[in-house]
Amino acid sequence: MHRLWSFLLVLCPVLQAQQITVNEKMTGTLGQQVTLPCTFTSSVDMQVTQIMWMKDSTNIATYSPQFGIHVQNKNDFNLTASPSSATLLIKLLRASDEGNYVCEVTTFPGGNRKGTTYLSVKADPKNSAEAIPVVAGDIEVPVAKCASANGKPPSQITWRSTLPGNFDMTVNNNTDGTYTVVSSFKLIPTWTADKQEVICVISYDSKETPIPVTLSVQYSPIVAIEGYDNNWYLKRTGASLTCNAHGNPQPTVYTWKTADGSPLPNSVKAKNNVLYVEEVDERVNTTIVCEVTNALGSRASQQEVLVRERALETQTNNAGAIAGGVIGGVLVVLLLAAVIFIVIRRGGVHKKERASYNPKTRIFGSGKPSQEFTYQDDSEMGKPLKASGPLRDSGLSPSLAEEEEDESEERMKYDVLEDDDEEEKFNEVGPMLQLRPHHDPYLDDDMESQTDGSIISRTAVYV
Ligand SMILES: *[C@@H]1O[C@H](CO)[C@@H](O)[C@H](O)[C@H]1NC(C)=O
Ligand SMILES: *[C@@H]1O[C@H](CO)[C@@H](O)[C@H](O)[C@H]1NC(C)=O
Ligand SMILES: *[C@@H]1O[C@H](CO)[C@@H](O)[C@H](O)[C@H]1NC(C)=O
Repeated sequence: MHRLWSFLLVLCPVLQAQQITVNEKMTGTLGQQVTLPCTFTSSVDMQVTQIMWMKDSTNIATYSPQFGIHVQNKNDFNLTASPSSATLLIKLLRASDEGNYVCEVTTFPGGNRKGTTYLSVKADPKNSAEAIPVVAGDIEVPVAKCASANGKPPSQITWRSTLPGNFDMTVNNNTDGTYTVVSSFKLIPTWTADKQEVICVISYDSKETPIPVTLSVQYSPIVAIEGYDNNWYLKRTGASLTCNAHGNPQPTVYTWKTADGSPLPNSVKAKNNVLYVEEVDERVNTTIVCEVTNALGSRASQQEVLVRERALETQTNNAGAIAGGVIGGVLVVLLLAAVIFIVIRRGGVHKKERASYNPKTRIFGSGKPSQEFTYQDDSEMGKPLKASGPLRDSGLSPSLAEEEEDESEERMKYDVLEDDDEEEKFNEVGPMLQLRPHHDPYLDDDMESQTDGSIISRTAVYV
């Protein structure tokens, strides 16, 4: 009994004074080395007989003051040790090295003490993102892909975009214990998505890595002709048309021609996307086509050019103050005539019954780019005026009578009626206008329907 008490009195301070210090958690990087420290301290003189590192109850390395260091697998591990410390070196971290490592110190007479370190192995992923070039279409396809390769733990991938798209994400387990996460961004590839930016956002180790991607949607050229101001007149110099086109790949070939296939007149010079007209003459009085080509195909736009005998502005200037009153009166008369004509037509008068009418027709556009115009053909001269549409009120006729272009009347199509006998007068005054709807039920037989919905005649007539 006495001996037991004395034993406990000796032992208890000893137990409290022994201490093993290890890191509770450590993180190593795949492919690199890591050292796990383990230190032993004792306030009293304590005999260390052995220090051992273990993983999953398997001995990795042992130190004994008496027998020295023993490492099971010298290729992968090493141990640096003394009676007060044993530092385990893991030379080349693998994903499988993750886990609990136990440092066990055996003392005499204290017995065994343990400390445990949890080692996690991470692997920084290699991140990348790129566009997948596609051809414009109406089926959803992947247009960009993003990858976070060989990471541990696996990354998360999302996308930021203003485009209406979707994305998926796939996690692949690699044999080395890492993960490769791939994601693709999908959308319906309209040409408007070309050169738009989407951002792949990779989340790893509580950090976000954004990678911007510029999409590439290939499409055949989108073409528009600009520069026609509806005021091309004989002898005008320096008129030009510009063919604005964009496409992917960038279009390089611009072909100017006439709609009827006849060669361009000598008076025009085509240089890439610009058509210069040195001096306007009758030969320019035609429909001009610009065809643009890239690797995906060709698209064309056309501009109907009306060559006037004289400039619109000149006519306005010539109309004096007094003449203005006369002009106004004439216009009122003509307007009335047109109204009456419509009334007659609505009264069931048939085409042939109006054969005495002998109008010439002439078309005005609104001066907008790529405006479509309709006009009647020579052979129609003997036929009655087709006053099928209602007259536009709304100050359009007055404004045109004053020879002002009404820019607000977009896509407007109307005929200008002139009478042979009154031509002189009207040329001063300006033509009287009569509107008719675009889809005229009395369309001439020789009118050609254009693919864009407009109608042009094969033969042009000037009054
Ligand atoms: C292992 O560690 C000991 C002590 O630090 C050192 O002398 C020895 O060279 C090391 N061995 C290897 C293979 O790294
Ligand atoms: C991939 O790894 C995860 C996590 O370790 C596991 O849950 C999953 O079953 C593994 N998948 C495959 C196909 O091995
Ligand atoms: C241009 O063509 C239009 C329509 O065919 C015609 O009315 C006009 O007189 C022509 N202009 C010239 C200057 O020949």
